Amino acid sequence: MTEILSVSKVRQAEALGKNVLIRGWVRTKRDSKGFSFLELNDGSSFGNIQVIAQENLENYETEVKKLTAGSSIAVWGTVEKSPGAKQPTEVHATKIEIYGFAPDTYPLQKKRHTLEFLRTISHLRPRTNTFGAVARVRNRICASIHQFFQEEGFYYIHTPIITASDCEGAGEMFQVTTLNLQNLPLTDKGEPDYAQDFFGKPSFLTVSGQLAVENFACALGKVYTFGPTFRAENSNTSRHLAEFWMVEPEMAFFELPENMELVERFLKRIIGDVLRDCPEDMAFFNDHMDSEKTLVARLTKIVESTFQKCSYTQAISILEKADREFQFPVKWGIDLQSEHERYLTEVHFNGPVIVYDYPKDIKAFYMRLNDDGKTVRAMDVLVPGVGEIVGGSEREYRPEVLENRMLEMGLNPADYWWYLDLRRFGTVPHSGFGLGLERMVMLITSVQNIRDVIPFPRTPGSADF
Ligand code: 4AD
Ligand code: MG
Repeated sequence: MTEILSVSKVRQAEALGKNVLIRGWVRTKRDSKGFSFLELNDGSSFGNIQVIAQENLENYETEVKKLTAGSSIAVWGTVEKSPGAKQPTEVHATKIEIYGFAPDTYPLQKKRHTLEFLRTISHLRPRTNTFGAVARVRNRICASIHQFFQEEGFYYIHTPIITASDCEGAGEMFQVTTLNLQNLPLTDKGEPDYAQDFFGKPSFLTVSGQLAVENFACALGKVYTFGPTFRAENSNTSRHLAEFWMVEPEMAFFELPENMELVERFLKRIIGDVLRDCPEDMAFFNDHMDSEKTLVARLTKIVESTFQKCSYTQAISILEKADREFQFPVKWGIDLQSEHERYLTEVHFNGPVIVYDYPKDIKAFYMRLNDDGKTVRAMDVLVPGVGEIVGGSEREYRPEVLENRMLEMGLNPADYWWYLDLRRFGTVPHSGFGLGLERMVMLITSVQNIRDVIPFPRTPGSADF
């Protein structure tokens, strides 16, 4: 009997002696006298399976010998013990069928390619070691996110992608319209006539599902939303995307300390799951992506230690005492820049730190105002190498205070009537946070550019593929 097995399964000692059918893409071929070695990969694991093709195969001269990197094939054969020390098994082919040859114009010939070059062939880069590993780790992180919240009694809520409200109030939204831009209908005042637009008013791609998911938290208790979010911020950095994925839990009755406790357990759980379930991919990142080759040790330390906590005011005072000149001068009230975040996490705390109680003027309108009238109950999780990975807060649940904050920040409370209703009808303290999925993948893989941890990156001036 022939079993259809993945490369990952065939590489295990348990497969020895089986008759199998495996299918995948040729990574390399090496010819010897009377036979050829094929390295086959199907994406199910980092490592390949070695296939031995003898010259007695019917199509050996006509086809097998012509196989090149990138060709797709099916191999029938038996799993044998491999004499090589690297792997326990190899497959001795009894039949090879070719789905498609790849001519030598295939861009992924056996040599090292830069990540920048691979970005120009984003459609083929999943077939490389690096992107295969990134995709598998990213998948494991997402599974972990759902497992964690499901085990903790959270409900998964699908919040809308198209919205009329700006959650972060930063005006960085992509507009969605079906108005004819070649021939824009105008009002008497000369403004676009949104009454004629698809939704009868201006609408946008969401920057965050938070406002919508808060409504469900204030009914179901513990909920989360997890989906794509969009920001039209013109930041061409290695940490910003115009389209990224964010997971946002929201918990009724949670105050800031419980929010912090949850985020710490959540991040540790994800890292622990990946270290346990993706050892081969993680060994690759440790040895080939991390300049110091200490990635696994650093992640293990994060799982085992307690996150440091420090108020924004304390953070400013640490930065003021730092023995270095920052490009952006430090004083109370500034938004922390990447260089400040790096100093705090990489030099001062040497690990993740939760910074809380930020000045109200640099944070969103919905955060709970502290009694000092100057700061809000915000919390950002900063990590070495990446900087801000999570942004969260306790939410303002007093209707008058919230309305004042909206006015202060130039928002029209009437536009948020439904959000204010939550505070008018049975308001409760509640909290939540948002984890940027891609930043989490960067932390776990040591990949330095956010464009290389998402399948098809969207950044200013670039929406290819
Ligand atoms: O700090 P942010 O803007 O917070 C929110 O959106 C809140 N509504 C979350 C909440 O409380 N429910 O974004 C949260 C996280 C950041 O910490 C960062 O990891 C990621 O989302 N993020 C980005 N990732 C990639 N590219 C961008 N342009 C990002 N902007 C934010
Ligand atoms: Mg933030």
